[in-house]
Amino acid sequence: MEIFVDSAKITEIEKWLDMGIVDGVTTNPSIMFSDGVHDVEAGAKSIAALVDPRPVSIEVTTNDLNGMLAEARIFVSWAPNIVIKIPQITQDGVPCYRVISRLENEGIKVNATAAMSLGQVILAAKAGATYISLFTGRVADEGGNAAEVIQKSTSWLERWHYKGSLVVGSIRSVGDILSAATAGAHIITIPPQYLGKMADHKYTRETVRQFVIDAEKAMQKMMAAKVIQSKARQYSRLKSIGSRKLKDSKTTVSEQTLK
Ligand code: E4P
Repeated sequence: MEIFVDSAKITEIEKWLDMGIVDGVTTNPSIMFSDGVHDVEAGAKSIAALVDPRPVSIEVTTNDLNGMLAEARIFVSWAPNIVIKIPQITQDGVPCYRVISRLENEGIKVNATAAMSLGQVILAAKAGATYISLFTGRVADEGGNAAEVIQKSTSWLERWHYKGSLVVGSIRSVGDILSAATAGAHIITIPPQYLGKMADHKYTRETVRQFVIDAEKAMQKMMAAKVIQSKARQYSRLKSIGSRKLKDSKTTVSEQTLK
C-alpha cells in the first residue's frame, strides 16, 4: 500500500517526505486555495520538483471537456511527474470518460477523481485511468459504507487486472485511514495532520520517557562505577610504587650493612 500526502503545503510535504513515508502527492483546487497556493503553475512545479520522481496529481479547473484536454496538456508540460485529475462527471453530470481515455492514449497519466461509487470506479478503470480516487469521507457523509466500496472496488480491479490503482481520499480521521488500509486500498492520500496523529500515542510517549529516565539512571551508575574502578586502580598503582620503593631502600640498607 502506498501513502500520498493530500496537501499543497511545501513544508508539510517536505517534512513527511524526509521521513521516508511518502509515495506521491494529491491536490485539488480547494486544497491549493486553502493552503495559500494561488498560482497553480508555480505551486505544481515546486511540489513536483520536491517529490520527483513520485507522482503529483493536479486537477483541471474547468467543466468543459475540451477545456480539460487543453489544460491537461499544459499542466503535464510543467513537470514529468504531473498526473492530471479529471472528475468522473462535470458539475452538470456529463461523464468525463472520453477525456480520461484520450489523455491516457496520449501517454498522459490520469487520476479519475471524485468517485463516490463502485460504478464510477468501474467506468474510470475501463476508460484507462492510472489512478481512481474514491472520496470515502464523502461516501460516509451520505450514509454509505466506505469500507465496503473500497473492498469491492479493489477486488474488482484486481480480479480483472485493470491497471488503475484505487486512491482512497477524503480522509477525516485516523480511523478512516485504518479502515481504508484494512479494506484493501492500494493508496491512501492523507492530509498531513492525520499523519501526525497516526504516529502519536500517549502510551508510546510515556514508554519512551521511562526508557530515557532509566537510561540516564544507568549512565549515572556506570559513571559512578567507573570512578570507583579508576580510584581502585590508582590506589593499587600507588601501593605497588610504595612497596617497590620500600624494597629498594631495604636492599640499599642491607648492601651497606654488608660493606
Ligand atoms: C483526494 O485526492 C482529494 O484531494 C481529497 O481527499 C478530497 O477530500 P475532501 O472530501 O476532504 O475534499
